[in-house]
Amino acid sequence: MKTEILKMLKETDRYVSGQQLCGQFGVSRTAVWKIIGQLKKEGYQIQAVRNKGYRLVESADVITGAELESLMNTAWAGTKLEYYDETDSTNIRARQLAEKGAPHGTLVTADSQTAGKGRRGRSWIAPRGQGIWMSLVLRPDIDPQNASMLTLVAALAVSDGIKKSTGLDVSIKWPNDVVCRGRKLCGILTEMSTEADWIRYCVVGMGINVNMETFPEELKDQATSLCLELKRPVKRSPVICACMEAFETYYGIFIKTGDLSALTETYNGLSANLARTVTVLDPAGEYRGEALGIDSRGCLLVKCSGGEIRRVISGEVSVRGICGYV
Ligand code: BTN
Repeated sequence: MKTEILKMLKETDRYVSGQQLCGQFGVSRTAVWKIIGQLKKEGYQIQAVRNKGYRLVESADVITGAELESLMNTAWAGTKLEYYDETDSTNIRARQLAEKGAPHGTLVTADSQTAGKGRRGRSWIAPRGQGIWMSLVLRPDIDPQNASMLTLVAALAVSDGIKKSTGLDVSIKWPNDVVCRGRKLCGILTEMSTEADWIRYCVVGMGINVNMETFPEELKDQATSLCLELKRPVKRSPVICACMEAFETYYGIFIKTGDLSALTETYNGLSANLARTVTVLDPAGEYRGEALGIDSRGCLLVKCSGGEIRRVISGEVSVRGICGYV
């Protein structure tokens, strides 16, 4: 009912009378008053005027189920929601839910993570209220060998979601970091559970830096946040919902072909590496070359000085710019 009341308040700039709310949901004035009180406590600015009713002046920056449900406009991605005020890692929670049968499209969000996971066993800093820490449960009917492509699909979705919800132009550092002005805004960690040659489930974890104003010394030259780029605080729920809408679109295109062939052009158009010199940190020996873009499997094509074109496989090898991280 909290979701429904929020929806009604969001649909209009005018006052919604207590009587209207009571009639609509068949509850007492006290019940409505209690829910309004809860919303105010969460940070919603709601004006209450005698004989007029309630008016939503400003939404709160919360990512609760009620707020997300009141904004979500998707068919399956993020329609089943699980919210934690604090948890160890949304990827761990999502895996646990998937083991118990959570459906395709279940989205786990948390206001803070105490043991956020990054790629290559690193940790991910996820302070309270300052970012989007979310994990999406997927049950794709694809070859497990192609699952890493989902990470590139997610990078496209996050880039699109950020652009649509905030207007900020971002790009993608291959394979899956969303960046702005050469600094990282979002990291993606995909994990999966397989059996024989099929995928039981995948969990795509996305961490977007939203309202951080500073970063620890070791990250400050490489990381940024939406707030730092836009020079204003950003509400997280509209960004989450825009990312889920975009995810549905790109995932649909990906599933049709089972690879990235229909998305290479869009991806390369957003690539921060395209036509730039990159250093490939291959354990067999570092080399440099010009990044030509991705192929249908999400590999980065790099043209070496002798003209030879090498395919760099995502997840196996890292790539850096010649003057820094991108
Ligand atoms: C990276 O190293 O770039 C990937 C970072 C992924 C972080 C996100 S935050 C939400 C989800 N839960 C986690 O524990 N990790 C991912």
